[in-house]
Amino acid sequence: MDRIRIRGGRPLSGKIAIGGAKNAALPLMAASLLTDEKLVLTNLPRLADITTLSHLLVQHGVSITMNGAKPEETGHVLELRARRIANTTAPYDLVRKMRASVLVLGPLLARCGEAKVSLPGGCSIGPRPVDLHLKGLERLGATIELHQGYIEATARKGLVGAEIIFPVVSVGATENLMMAATLAEGETTLVNAAREPEIVDLARCLAAMGAEIDGAGSDRIRIRGVKRLVGARHRVIPDRIETGTYIMATAITGGAVELVGAEYAAIAAVARVLEGAGVEVTETPKGIAIRRRNGRLTGVDVMTEPFPGFPTDLQAQMMATMTTADGAAMITETIFENRFMHVPELCRMGANINVHGASAMVRGVPKLAGAPVMATDLRASVSLVLAGLAAEGETVINRIYHLDRGYEHLEEKLAACGAEIERLVGD
Ligand code: EPZ
Repeated sequence: MDRIRIRGGRPLSGKIAIGGAKNAALPLMAASLLTDEKLVLTNLPRLADITTLSHLLVQHGVSITMNGAKPEETGHVLELRARRIANTTAPYDLVRKMRASVLVLGPLLARCGEAKVSLPGGCSIGPRPVDLHLKGLERLGATIELHQGYIEATARKGLVGAEIIFPVVSVGATENLMMAATLAEGETTLVNAAREPEIVDLARCLAAMGAEIDGAGSDRIRIRGVKRLVGARHRVIPDRIETGTYIMATAITGGAVELVGAEYAAIAAVARVLEGAGVEVTETPKGIAIRRRNGRLTGVDVMTEPFPGFPTDLQAQMMATMTTADGAAMITETIFENRFMHVPELCRMGANINVHGASAMVRGVPKLAGAPVMATDLRASVSLVLAGLAAEGETVINRIYHLDRGYEHLEEKLAACGAEIERLVGD
């Protein structure tokens, strides 16, 4: 298995290009199931999760080609065409690799009147149920049965629009239901909908495909069903979590970096928190510039929240950043139940962190020390990379296949800014 070796202590300096957002790309790819015409997605990152979803879509009958970008475009270009749905079953072997696979449920059901999708099961950051997806589809008239680990959904006469009130905000359920409702008969309203930029991006793409959607980006989304959707070309938004990760990499190493192609509005809450910790985050004509003010960072408290709050997908990176701050930082995780798996690993590098329920008290130490570490999920892994960049001596990170799910060219991007980082190709 590959590992990453870092010799820490070098400030980052230079430019990093931000890629297309993984969490926008996945629902956009699932949306290709809604039409028999071609959907072209540009600015797509090349990541393991994109490949996993491609495999699933291919077995549903989608033909997919991936090309390098045209000179005027960054990222990759994916062409998806679901001329005919060959198979409405999403099997366990593919769904268990990636929970976002459940996003095929709404589109398949809306287009074919039936879908059988494996229940995703638990994962390292918490139980992550899909009850809101299922209750929402039932409100649209689907019959749902759980049978031998599979969700069996049918709507033989088609889905019918309805009002769906979410008891908690869910990104995935908002996406699944928004897609399903585009082909339902009549109007659907999603109340307490997620407001993440990825939802707005999906709504824009669906609108380009002929869907009628208002209110994406607010907590109330209205969808008027249409008979059919058509092909479109759509550019995936920049990855705000990759952006936030490199902001924190710059903050913890004390460098100055420009993130080319990054969008400030998508990480405004993160920028505000880091400003309080002693980091300048400013908009530039090409993206965002980051510079740590002189001296150590200052500890600041953070609570994760749905957008526009501080994202849970940057909590681990923020915690790593606070390990060497002056003073204490209370980090509270409100979205997932088990998202502190990075804490023991950071402590092995000399961090002083105590977890009390959903909060972690980080007491800043002057320096971290390199160590062999491993992680259990994507964002936890990258928080160890950040810690390794700041630590004295050598850090070796194991199980980096997690990183390959969500960070394209991580080592190259950091090395180009002066980090001493390399991939050790293992057996
Ligand atoms: C998306 O997951 C992201 N994944 C996650 O990113 C991200 O952490 C999460 O949103 C929150 O921002 C993708 O976009 C592919 P949710 P999702 O439904 O949609 C509970 C990463 O590292 N819930 O918004 O699965 C759930 O348990 C990943 O890139 C229910 O109770 O998250 C959680 O506590 C990790 N019932 C909360 O809602 C449901 O039916 C929010 O989850 C659905 C969710």
